[in-house]
Order: sequence, then structure tokens, then C-alpha cells
Amino acid sequence: MNILILGSGGREHAFTKKITESAKVTKVFVAPGNAGTAAIAENLAVDPTDFESVKAAVVANEIQMVVVGPEAPLVAGVHDYFLADEELKNIPVIGPKKDGALLEGSKDFSKQFMQKHGIPTAQYQSFTKDSLEEGKAFLTTLTPPFVLKADGLAAGKGVLIIDDLAEAQAELEDMLTNEKFGAASSTVVIEEFLRGIELSVFVLTDGKSYKVLPSAKDYKRIGEGDTGLNTGGMGAISPVPFADDAFLAKVEERVVKPTVEGLQKDGIDYRGFIFIGLMNVAGDPFVIEYNVRMGDPETEVVLPRIQSDLLELFEGVANQTLDSKSYEVTSQTATTVMLVSGGYPEAYEKGKQISGFEQAEGSIVYHAGTKLDGDKVLTSGGRVMAITTLADTMGEALATSYKNIEKITFDKMNYRTDIGFDLQ
Ligand code: AMP
Ligand code: GLY
Repeated sequence: MNILILGSGGREHAFTKKITESAKVTKVFVAPGNAGTAAIAENLAVDPTDFESVKAAVVANEIQMVVVGPEAPLVAGVHDYFLADEELKNIPVIGPKKDGALLEGSKDFSKQFMQKHGIPTAQYQSFTKDSLEEGKAFLTTLTPPFVLKADGLAAGKGVLIIDDLAEAQAELEDMLTNEKFGAASSTVVIEEFLRGIELSVFVLTDGKSYKVLPSAKDYKRIGEGDTGLNTGGMGAISPVPFADDAFLAKVEERVVKPTVEGLQKDGIDYRGFIFIGLMNVAGDPFVIEYNVRMGDPETEVVLPRIQSDLLELFEGVANQTLDSKSYEVTSQTATTVMLVSGGYPEAYEKGKQISGFEQAEGSIVYHAGTKLDGDKVLTSGGRVMAITTLADTMGEALATSYKNIEKITFDKMNYRTDIGFDLQ
């Protein structure tokens, strides 16, 4: 099979690597990809949200399946576009249609969905410009900190957690009347603050059955000890030691099953990944958010642990035969540490030459923001490379990742030295 992967990050390099290892693959294309995917597949200079260019690439390269990495093309309806096109309609797309993608594209929709299907989540109410005063009054009924979420996609920046009531009221006004996050904040969800430890659980579904993929913990803050600004993710660990069988059984019963069944009941034919952001509140799972794609850098620890043929699983998703597919996961631990450009997540420079990564031993180097310049590899984004290791213990895996990082250099390279610090 010829496969097209949409996206350009570490997640997409991890998909590319896993798919090139499949017994069923002929050729893998990545649009637009990065220097890492260029080394093992063919990059195509196509923007994943430009559906006509995606179509041209699919036709020209006789693509037989499309795997969508990021949320933007899904929320914009890439899957619907394929189904509506005579030439494309029989080519499976791994990722939900627009209706399912609303689980990530609208916080208000996802909260209503959870409430309707009895899925545990924080109590909430939604407000618009017209109900600003009710929103301010609602805030007075809550105990701080206050959680304000822009309804739409806001590049991971649309959630504010504020201690002070007056400040929270002012931010609510800024979001609703001044569109602080553009149209994404024309509706704002205000919710109860949940106290606990976060983790992510990933599900692959064909709309009828599902496989629960390995869980992972992501380190979102830029600074050591989980301090400083939020990033896309500075590292990840899988499995998560506190997510034991008893906890994961609760997640499956209370969250995964009602989510897949809820989609069915609501007539949403969902074929793809569901990324469930959870808070473990005193041993009970509460959903913080859904994403309709895999996480990044979580994919860089989840896929290395999956021992089954990923394309087989994807075929199962496409033909709704997922329940008949074999699915094996190693009990080993995977860790990844993200190398980032100095300054990220604020302003940073690009175009720095990266050296030494070819010398890594015992780790997988996943490229994220990298690009080829002749035979040189240059930085081209904030998150540059994820160094993943699979080992019997988390300590061993981290030690190998960090040892390999010592060999890698680029100007102003930065990374967290304490990934997994809270799980030791
Ligand atoms: P989200 O974009 O919904 O994942 O929110 C970003 C981050 O805000 C989450 O990863 C949590 O750390 C935090 N957060 C979101 N909602 C809540 C909540 N209700 N209680 C506590 N923390 C939250
Ligand atoms: N690492 C978090 C995300 O992919 O959304």
C-alpha cells in the first residue's frame, strides 16, 4: 500500500517510522514532513489544509490510505472532503470527519457530549458576549482557581487558570468582547478546577470497537520541576506508573466505553484516534479534554511500545474490523526528551545546524522542527527533536536518552533534564 501521512512534527516522524516497518507498506509519503521523514520516506511540499493540493498528491502518487497527524485538517473537514469526491471517496482516511472532530474543535460541544453520556468531567457553564454579566456572576459562585477556556482551537493557548476573581472577570470580558483568542473565544467555557495528577489515554476506534493504546504522561511546562510557560510538550513517559490496572479499568468503563458508545448513539461515524486528557482525582478519572488526534510528544512514546503492525490496525479502522486485529504492547517503558530552540515557547531563532544525532545509540531520534539544507540538517521550529528510548525501567530509558543528548548540539539548544522527575 502507498500511504500519505499529513503533518510535519515528531508525531508524524513516529508514524512514518512505524508504518515503514509494516509488512503491508509499499511506499510512504509525508506532507510536508521534515528532515527525519525525508530520510525514510518521500516528503511532498503540500499544505495539509489545502485539500485540492492534497488531492493532487493522492492521485499522482496512487495513495491508498491517508493518515492525518494534526487536528487542523480534521477540524477543517479533510475526511468529509475525501468522502464527497468521486476519485477519493474509497481511499480511507484515518481521522474523524468534521462532526467527530468537534470533540476537539469545540470545548462547549465536548462538554455537552460528556454531560449527555455521563462521562465524568468538571462542572461547567458556557457564556457568550450576550451573557457576559451572567458569566461574571457565575465566577463569584466558584472557588478559585478559575478555569476559563476558549471554545475553539487556539493553538493550545486558549485555557486560562486564574487565582483572582477580579482578574478572572476581566479576562472573561477580554475573551468575549475583545475576542482575545479571535473567534475561538466568542464562546467561553468556565469550569470547576480539578485537583490531581494528569495523564493521557489514547484510543483507536473504527466507530464500533476500540483498542486502548498505551497511556502516557506529558511534561508541558518549559522549566524544570514543571515551572514556566506551557509548551507543546517537553517530554513524555509511557506507561504511567500511577495508572495501574485498577485505574485503567475505571478509565475504560467510565470514559472510553461511554465515549465510543456516545459517538455511535449521536450518529457520529468516528474512525481514528481519540486522545483523552485525564485528571486522576484521588483515584478517579475525570476528562479534562478530548483531542481527535494523537499527542505530540506522546506518540513518540506510545508507538514504540506497540508491537503489532500499525497498518493492519489502520485497515481494521477503515473496514470496521478492528476487533479482529491482533494488538500487542511491550511492558517496557518508553521515555522521550524533547530538544527545543532557545527562547521557545516565546520567540526563537531557526536555521541552526544540528550535529551529532547520527551518533545516538540505543535511542530513536525523532525529528520535529527540522529541515534539510543540502546534506545539512537545520532547525526549523521550536520543538526540534525527540530522543526516545525503550528499556526495562524508566530510569534506564531516561539515562540512555540523556546520554545520547550529550552527543547532539545546535546553537541555543535547550531541554528539560528532569523528565519523569515526579514518577521516580
Ligand atoms: P486543555 O487545553 O483543556 O488541555 O487545558 C490545558 C491545561 O489546563 C490542562 O492540561 C490542565 O493542566 C489544565 N486544566 C484544564 N482544565 C482544568 C481543570 N478543570 N482543572 C484543572 N486544570 C485544568
Ligand atoms: N502534548 C500535548 C498535545 O499533543 O496536545
